[in-house]
Amino acid sequence: MQLLERRQAIIVLDYGSQYSRLITRRVRECHVYSELAPAHTTLAQLQQNTYLDIKGFILSGGPASVYDDQAPACDPAILKSGLPVLGICYGMQLLAHQLGGHVAPASGRREYGPATLQTLIDTTGDPRYFRIFEGIGASPAQTNPLDQPRSVSPLRIPVWMSHGDSVDMLPPGFTVLACTESNPVTAIANVEGILGLQFHPEVTHTPQGTAIIRNFLYRICGCDPTWTTGSVIEEAVEQIRQRVGKDGKERVICGLSGGVDSAVAALLVHRAVGDQLTCIFVDTGCLRAGEREQVVDTFSRHLHIPLAVVDARQRFLARLAGVIDPEQKRKIIGEEFIRVFEEEAERLEEQGGPIAFLAQGTLYPDVIESTSHDTAATATRIKTHHNVGGLPEEMALKLVEPLRMLFKDEVREIGLALGLPEDWVWRHPFPGPGLAIRVIGAVDEERLEILRAADAIVIEEIQHAGIYRQLGQAFAVLTPLQSVGVMGDGRTYANVVAVRAVTTGDFMTADWARLSPELLARISHRIVNEVPGVNRVVYDITSKPPATIEWE
Ligand code: XMP
Repeated sequence: MQLLERRQAIIVLDYGSQYSRLITRRVRECHVYSELAPAHTTLAQLQQNTYLDIKGFILSGGPASVYDDQAPACDPAILKSGLPVLGICYGMQLLAHQLGGHVAPASGRREYGPATLQTLIDTTGDPRYFRIFEGIGASPAQTNPLDQPRSVSPLRIPVWMSHGDSVDMLPPGFTVLACTESNPVTAIANVEGILGLQFHPEVTHTPQGTAIIRNFLYRICGCDPTWTTGSVIEEAVEQIRQRVGKDGKERVICGLSGGVDSAVAALLVHRAVGDQLTCIFVDTGCLRAGEREQVVDTFSRHLHIPLAVVDARQRFLARLAGVIDPEQKRKIIGEEFIRVFEEEAERLEEQGGPIAFLAQGTLYPDVIESTSHDTAATATRIKTHHNVGGLPEEMALKLVEPLRMLFKDEVREIGLALGLPEDWVWRHPFPGPGLAIRVIGAVDEERLEILRAADAIVIEEIQHAGIYRQLGQAFAVLTPLQSVGVMGDGRTYANVVAVRAVTTGDFMTADWARLSPELLARISHRIVNEVPGVNRVVYDITSKPPATIEWE
């Protein structure tokens, strides 16, 4: 068995900033692996993972003040470990406070928004202090990590500030690297590579932020650019082989949803253990136009991955008949899906022998969500996102989750590298219950067909306008309204279709997309002319909140 190499890693300690996850992603974008850990994690706990070769730490920002009763602290062993530590905002205040400096509590006014950072003249005579700003120009030019250390010429760059407290006395051994007009201590460092930045290098409002992070990784922590799509695939494949065994005996099943996560999980498992994997795709009857065909075409015909397609349309429609309540629809579809999936797995076992593993496309944000201290778990439940494709627990299958440590953008890159078609990789998210929650009110085959045809036009026109990737989601909704119209010489009384298109970063909030009047006109014209049973199209101009993205 080939042993996995230890992986260089930067640990981001999460002090509760809304940007903690973003810091982790930024580090990975610089090709260094990074994991997010809760604030109180100790060095000893981290070192239990012998697979990680920890090269440094980043302490995130956070809402606390170091003087708060419950202020989260950093394990002193981390600060004494000899490994580089970069404190950002609260992280900087924390390390200054813990290492013997002083933090001035906010004098009522926060410094929030853009500022201009100015580096101070280097009087230390030791170029190691200023490494974090090396090679950074006034423009967001990339730094070359191979440059020799040299002194930094005075620099003025835009940065993003968001803090109340600030450091007013340095810990022993530290020097001030930079200031802003209203903050004399904006960046500090000691010679061992412990640094504090009062501004946020991880946000796009700090245009040279990535170059600054890159300096920390390469010049200060001595990382190598090892986190690449190729290396991620290689490692994932090796890990799957170690878990499943490549002796041809242990079988794996994977439910495909039509989305990118389950598809990439399946591709990785197939690369690792070949035809020990069988994918299952359930046609619930609530899929978009062409979706089933694309799955069959891509997986069976192009990638030659064993695929079982279950046509369960009638079963789902029968159970949904007359159901109006959206939560009830979700519940029915979730339950029925598990039933169909189990039956199919049993059938596959009868045909080809026992199945031991279930592959799933669980992503890193889902993993940290379940361990994080934020309020997601306690937030009021607006919609139960019964994820169709959820694990049938009683099946007692062992899990294979090759995407557990990956962010969505990394999964997309892997998908592309493994041959998943581009339109699949970039497809907007689609809810598990599918079109059933976009046909408002009772669902039947006829109404699904109307919606499917209208939705295909919306997507086609948006793609044609070249803005599909700028949108978070776009789709049609079939309302339960009938309205009067006139077509030719006749009066019509037919369905109203609503078009929804939103821009969003995280799907927690969203704004309605300002589609051009010309594009809206084309969509409306085509739907009314091409989809029988529709005589009116409206555009949804509500943001989230107060509305949600889906109508049900
Ligand atoms: P809302 O409508 O809550 O949607 O603003 C936020 C995101 O979640 C998706 N969504 C679902 N996904 N099962 C899912 O797998 C569901 O029941 C469900 N409901 C909403 C929605 O499409 C959007 O991306």
